[in-house]
Amino acid sequence: MNKLFEGSLALAAGHQTRRLQLCLIALLLVGAAISVPATAQNLQVPTPSPGLMPNPAAGKTLFDKNCASCHGAKLQGSDKGPPMLSKIYEPSHHGDAAFQLAVKNGSRAHHWQFGDMPPVPGLTADDVAQITAYVRLEQRQVGIQ
Ligand code: HEC
Repeated sequence: MNKLFEGSLALAAGHQTRRLQLCLIALLLVGAAISVPATAQNLQVPTPSPGLMPNPAAGKTLFDKNCASCHGAKLQGSDKGPPMLSKIYEPSHHGDAAFQLAVKNGSRAHHWQFGDMPPVPGLTADDVAQITAYVRLEQRQVGIQ
């Protein structure tokens, strides 16, 4: 009789754990729902100053300083990041907004196996527009357009 009682206690405890697990999953789901608006906010694309004439030479200087360590001094990639001279980054697949967003928010690894790109701090939307102009120029020179 005692054994039976212990058994049902254990069973009840098992049920409790299961309930707790369900509660935790529900909490996680609610948390995810709440964080969606925050993610949407991050998707606001920084806009360069109106009338800015992006200058590839200025962009090169900024690229060398901020991006080349991963994307390669000649945009050919490195062991930490992919080449920008890849069809994947042609303007129709990764438009200029993709550059603004990648620099501002970083980018989850999805095309390659290098891991995530962290945000690059300290660059304005104008800086990124200059960098993008440099990348586009180099891309056109190898026939990526
Ligand atoms: C610490 C390494 C690192 C640095 C520094 C870095 N990147 Fe990246 N970047 C990556 C990696 C890794 C990926 C590829 C992620 C993937 O698998 O798609 C990437 C992807 C990108 C993409 C594509 C984003 C997309 O939407 O798929 C752009 C654009 C980009 N980088 C631009 C830049 C620019 C511009 C700079 C400098 C201001 C820079 N990156 C600096 C590592 C880096």
